Amino acid sequence: MTDRYAVIGNPIEQSKSPLIHTAFAQVTGQDIEYTKLLAPLGGFAMVVDAFRTSGGRGMNVTAPFKLDAFAYATDLAPSAQMAGAVNAMKFEGGKVYAENFDGVGLVRDLLHNLACPLKGRRVLILGAGGATRGALLPLLAEAPAELVIVNRTVVKAETLATLAQKHQMASVPVQGLGYAALQGQAFDVVLNATSSSLTAELPPLPVSVFAPGCLAYDLTYGKGLTPFLKLASESGVTRLADGVGMLAEQAAEAFAWWRGVRPDTTSVIQQLTIPLR
Ligand code: ATR
Repeated sequence: MTDRYAVIGNPIEQSKSPLIHTAFAQVTGQDIEYTKLLAPLGGFAMVVDAFRTSGGRGMNVTAPFKLDAFAYATDLAPSAQMAGAVNAMKFEGGKVYAENFDGVGLVRDLLHNLACPLKGRRVLILGAGGATRGALLPLLAEAPAELVIVNRTVVKAETLATLAQKHQMASVPVQGLGYAALQGQAFDVVLNATSSSLTAELPPLPVSVFAPGCLAYDLTYGKGLTPFLKLASESGVTRLADGVGMLAEQAAEAFAWWRGVRPDTTSVIQQLTIPLR
């Protein structure tokens, strides 16, 4: 029998998840159907209840419902607890298992697709919202030399740095700073996890942050050369990436969790890649 999955959000039309999971199912020979579900604002639980009652096996969760899914879950994985948000659910009887694969997807993309090891390197992450929160522990698990979180609202960066220090297994130094404090500092990996690229804004970043040979990575997908990537490029950075690989890798993690087989992401990434210009 065909097992049913879906991605839930509002809006949902833009979601690439059905395309990605359908491609994964084809290459792995899994008999699944994967659709988009639009839930009204305030109607998350009602739509998920109906999907579960009709036999649905699992869901991806996108904006604005990642916190609703956190509240809805019966069993939260450590990744979801640390992120404070859920992006994948699995339904088994009365249980709703919940995960957040965004951070692990980002790190897999950096390590495996972009051949950018983190061990011993200086990593800067921009933003102190949900995207950064989800990425912290997977980044720290790779033992960078240091991790700096920078945010306009400095206290949010400081709070996340304290949280990360408390929960990490390695003993990587983590700092939370404001943008002005970055003057004169340079990093090997600079990750834009702010929502600035969605509104074509530029975080107030000094160009000194890009060390020679640096990778500049925008977690946003599908916006081409964002103001952040443009700044990096104009500052001489030649290694630029957007979040297409992260999108594919978090999907592969969810697929493996649901189906017990991890698909190769190469062809999906090729298919979804938009030139950075
Ligand atoms: P998400 O869940 O996508 O991380 P969020 O929780 O709303 O979204 O967080 C958005 C992050 O982007 C915040 O860190 C925000 O900074 P502030 O906390 O100071 O508001 C950051 N952000 C948004 N627009 C930005 C911009 N133009 N420049 C710098 N940071 C920006």
